[in-house]
Amino acid sequence: MTAPLFDSALAEKISAGGVAAVLVFDDAKDAAPVARALLDGGVGVMELTLRTPAALGALAEIRREVPEMVVGIGTILTVEQLHAAQAAGAAFGVSPGCNPRLLAAAREAGFSFGPGVATPTDIEIALEHGCRLLKFFPAEQLGGLPYLRAMAAPYAHLGIRYIPLGGLTESNAGTYLQDPLIAAIGGSWIAPREVIKAKKWDAIRSKARTASRLLEARRP
Ligand code: 3PG
Repeated sequence: MTAPLFDSALAEKISAGGVAAVLVFDDAKDAAPVARALLDGGVGVMELTLRTPAALGALAEIRREVPEMVVGIGTILTVEQLHAAQAAGAAFGVSPGCNPRLLAAAREAGFSFGPGVATPTDIEIALEHGCRLLKFFPAEQLGGLPYLRAMAAPYAHLGIRYIPLGGLTESNAGTYLQDPLIAAIGGSWIAPREVIKAKKWDAIRSKARTASRLLEARRP
């Protein structure tokens, strides 16, 4: 079997943390205070999306100011972006879809990468490249946990785990955590773009705390 594409120790760490905040930064200077607020609230994993040019600068700020935070880069759509994320020191990369070219590039570069999957075909492409940690995206819009369970059933013996992202909120995220298929949950609701822009760090700390409390619903 192909070696895992995502570093196993890092996958374990993300799974133990259980919650990942998805961020859109307009200003890299906001990154360190947001990372501190998230950590204070018990959230130790961030996915910085390449939807704004500030993402890689934000990564640099967090690595310098809050090194204990695990920071990955999301919305990686090209091989160039993958290499840039790795060179900037991202712990991992993720993409909304399952692009075999990105998976091959991640393998070659030795970069932990989790593609997004929405169909059994996506899962099989990911499996071929050694992926065992997958982003289930867009989770809620696809049909949530019932859809994921049905889609994942044929691959249950392969030990794949999923991070549902897309449409999760503090009221629906807890349900996912009760299923052993789920490595971690996440989304942008923990630190919404507008709340970051308004520099409401206390609000982010409190949302992070509520999100990390959802882990109490998790099976032992
Ligand atoms: C992502 O990039 O992972 C998703 O956009 C997160 O989805 P959300 O904004 O609905 O939480």
